[in-house]
Amino acid sequence: MNRAGVIGWPVAHSLSPVLHGYWLKQYGIDGSYEKIPAAPEDFVATITRLRAEGYAGVNVTVPHKEAAFALADTHRQSAKATNAANLLVFMGDGRIGADNTDGTGLVDSLESELGSIALGGKNIVVLGAGGAARGIVEALYGRGVGKITVLNRHAERALQLIEYASASRTNVKFKSGSLAEWAEAATDAWLVVNTTSAGMKGNPPLDMDLSVLPKDAAICDIVYNPLETPLLKSAKARGLRAIDGLGMLMCQAAPSFQAFFFDEMGGKAPEVTPGLRTALVEALGQH
Ligand code: ATR
Repeated sequence: MNRAGVIGWPVAHSLSPVLHGYWLKQYGIDGSYEKIPAAPEDFVATITRLRAEGYAGVNVTVPHKEAAFALADTHRQSAKATNAANLLVFMGDGRIGADNTDGTGLVDSLESELGSIALGGKNIVVLGAGGAARGIVEALYGRGVGKITVLNRHAERALQLIEYASASRTNVKFKSGSLAEWAEAATDAWLVVNTTSAGMKGNPPLDMDLSVLPKDAAICDIVYNPLETPLLKSAKARGLRAIDGLGMLMCQAAPSFQAFFFDEMGGKAPEVTPGLRTALVEALGQH
């Protein structure tokens, strides 16, 4: 029986067990997925123990994502771009592989909402320049978008992100700025992605003037608590397409499940379905 889990501190709030538990049941797999609490000083020892106990790997959440990256032997580009890992796979040869599936999770969910060729050549505005934004910019680049503008409260952080992302890449236009440059960036935006924690339960929302966006623009918020953030509410009120953060949450988990239960799944990724979404909405209601 393959075992996996999510390691964090605290970890009680994590929705990962709901996602993986749903898939274990749906595919009739005899496996387990647990919450694994570990304080920062216990992180490395806990990983060593889990490997010794034969776990297939773990998902990693706050505050261990950077430590997980540092501990791994091999790193996917998505993890390198963020210096962080949300997935550690314990490989048969004893090495640990690090991946960060947050960015591809968001892009996969956008493609399922907007159509698979939708992102090609498009102008995308990313709000925020933290770890989440780094992963998302990397994944957007990978899908061949036309232009990526990163706007952040502290503009220098947006500039740093763009400097890393654009190094030796010429086929996508990159731009950075402060939130004050919103109106200019928004006029020809096809999609806006909010990666900031503004609008999350307990945080004041971003105060963006959505009237400057094209009428057919889409807005995506990676925050999923609340499911309808004030930003998405105003987007809907203007008739703009609004995409909530549950799609990203579901899509970022799929490659982890595929890696943990590879043989049982015949190498395939699990499906992201409306039933899974319903299970998450229910779990969020109980939080
Ligand atoms: P994560 O790794 O989850 O992205 P982070 O690195 O703490 O988290 O980044 C949080 C992002 O939200 C940052 O872009 C931050 O802006 P600053 O870099 O200027 O701090 C942004 N953010 C948080 N609260 C915000 C607010 N009230 N208004 C605007 N941006 C905010």
